[in-house]
Amino acid sequence: MNGETDKDTAYDRLGGEAGVQALTQRFYDIMESDPAYAALRAMHAPDLTQVREDFAGFLSLWLGGPRDWLTRRGGFCLMSRHAGLGITPETAEQWLATMRQAMEGLVADEALQHKMDNAFSRLAEAMAWRGR
Ligand code: HEM
Repeated sequence: MNGETDKDTAYDRLGGEAGVQALTQRFYDIMESDPAYAALRAMHAPDLTQVREDFAGFLSLWLGGPRDWLTRRGGFCLMSRHAGLGITPETAEQWLATMRQAMEGLVADEALQHKMDNAFSRLAEAMAWRGR
């Protein structure tokens, strides 16, 4: 026993589906509207509807919430999906800055925000390294 209950997943601490949706929509809203992230925005499709849906589905799974998105997809490899996109240290930094801005004031649980920031940073760094 580690003392954790079903309510202790990162998904629950973020606020469940509502929290996942809020973070996702805010992330892409910032990416779309802030010129500082123009290079990152340009890597994405003109219409962000699909990636908004996919990122939310991925986040739910990644944070220990419902896994329906993965079930529908049949499988998903985050690193393979980003290999070949030409991610540079600059665009990885833009992604992280966008995400930090999106999390700020939205993720009420500071420890969770810190953990997510660490995990996002490692992933983004690895993606930039592979993209070189
Ligand atoms: C390092 C900086 C990153 C860049 C530049 C980047 C860029 C992209 C791009 C260009 C797409 C394709 C979207 C489209 O076609 O419109 C995408 C998709 C996606 N990204 Fe990233 N990404 C980064 C980091 C991350 C990280 C850290 C995560 C997860 C924590 C992530 C999760 C996703 C997911 C789930 C999709 C949808 C893929 C699919 O449904 O096939 N990305 N990303």
